[in-house]
Amino acid sequence: MKSQVVIIGAGPSGLLLGQLLHKAGIDNIVLERATPEYVLGRIRAGVLEEGFVGLVKEAGVAQRMDREGLPHGGVKVAFNGEIRRIDLHKYAQGKQVIVYGQTEITADLMEARVASGAPSVYEVENVEIHDLMEDAPYVLFEKDGEQQRIDCDYVAGCDGFHGVSRKTIPETVRKEYEKVYPVGWLGVLSDTPPISDELIYGVSDRGFFLCSMRSNTRSRHYVDVSLEEKVEDWSDERFWDELKNRLPDEVKNDLVTGPSIEKSIAPLRSFVCEPMQYGRLFLVGDAAHIVPPTGAKGLNLASSDVNYLYRVMLKVFKENKPEAIAQYSSLCLRRVWHAERFSWWMTNMLHNFGDEIDRKIMNSQLDFYTGTEAGLRVIAEQYVGLPYEEVT
Ligand code: APR
Ligand code: PHB
Repeated sequence: MKSQVVIIGAGPSGLLLGQLLHKAGIDNIVLERATPEYVLGRIRAGVLEEGFVGLVKEAGVAQRMDREGLPHGGVKVAFNGEIRRIDLHKYAQGKQVIVYGQTEITADLMEARVASGAPSVYEVENVEIHDLMEDAPYVLFEKDGEQQRIDCDYVAGCDGFHGVSRKTIPETVRKEYEKVYPVGWLGVLSDTPPISDELIYGVSDRGFFLCSMRSNTRSRHYVDVSLEEKVEDWSDERFWDELKNRLPDEVKNDLVTGPSIEKSIAPLRSFVCEPMQYGRLFLVGDAAHIVPPTGAKGLNLASSDVNYLYRVMLKVFKENKPEAIAQYSSLCLRRVWHAERFSWWMTNMLHNFGDEIDRKIMNSQLDFYTGTEAGLRVIAEQYVGLPYEEVT
């Protein structure tokens, strides 16, 4: 087989990149280890920056998102028993975020790929990437026990944190930066109306909480728990009691509880791999970086890489400028580190890590950043997402 680009991984990064390239007439094959059902079963965040929304539109897959996505012009932060609103429209130059689940985006992208006729191979095994430093790399994989080979020009490693792409870069070349936080987020999805029409991130004496949503009838809530906690020990009742105990008095009684549809504990990690390009391989999304979920930057950062790689590929294939690939890693990493910083900072400010003086200082930060014009601007501009840079 032959393809201009081989995309490893059919998560949101791989599927969005594949759709954009296909639309631009750059042929690509997506290789995915899991089944489509498995990929769609993963529950992840659902707050989309305008940059991401723009790319989905450019890929021609925005119809359902435009219909069902909820525009949010503000976000709330609770601390010291009080709730403060960050007016995104006002403090981020009229920008907003769209609340629409990652699972829905992935489903839309999968459907669009099938409709476009672009090839995807699911349930592949033993993917290997070869000759990345040569002009003609190739990818080997097994499907139904048989090995196959794809000759290509470039490989996009969109295979998440546990994928094979990053590990293909020799250890002498790559440097990894990692921090694991001492808590996880216990999340519950339920068919209950959200407590507020906007997200509420909060911290209380008992710890962090987040009241989020997927729609006007489906909520997603989180509390932080110690890493020793097991999800089996959290009955729905215990979860709702804990959440209620963390909520400020003014909303406590608005909480509508109900049976969980999904319940899981997610670890909190900051991780970056540098560089994000090695020869003809590009790392994209979770394959190159992980942020803790506070601030909902994971998917948005993945789409920022997709944006840069797509525009670099346009230069390469449409303007015959192969040298354009050299800017990929530094363009991505600049934005990656900004999002890493923002997510790390929000995480520290909203969790009870450290000792008493740290907590006091974090509270004072919350007061400053949600209570002054300068502070509100700093949070709002980053929450809606920093702009993408030009690709030359
Ligand atoms: N071969 C083929 N596919 C693989 C391999 C492999 N060796 N290893 C992993 N995969 C697949 C996984 O099964 C998964 O479907 O790659 C895909 C990677 O998808 P994601 O983990 O969703 O990563 P990405 O597309 O970059 O999406 C980033 O997901 O984790 C969130 O916060 C993150 O929202 C962000 C988004
Ligand atoms: C979610 O809705 O799952 C969600 C929202 C915001 C976050 C993280 C997760 O920061």
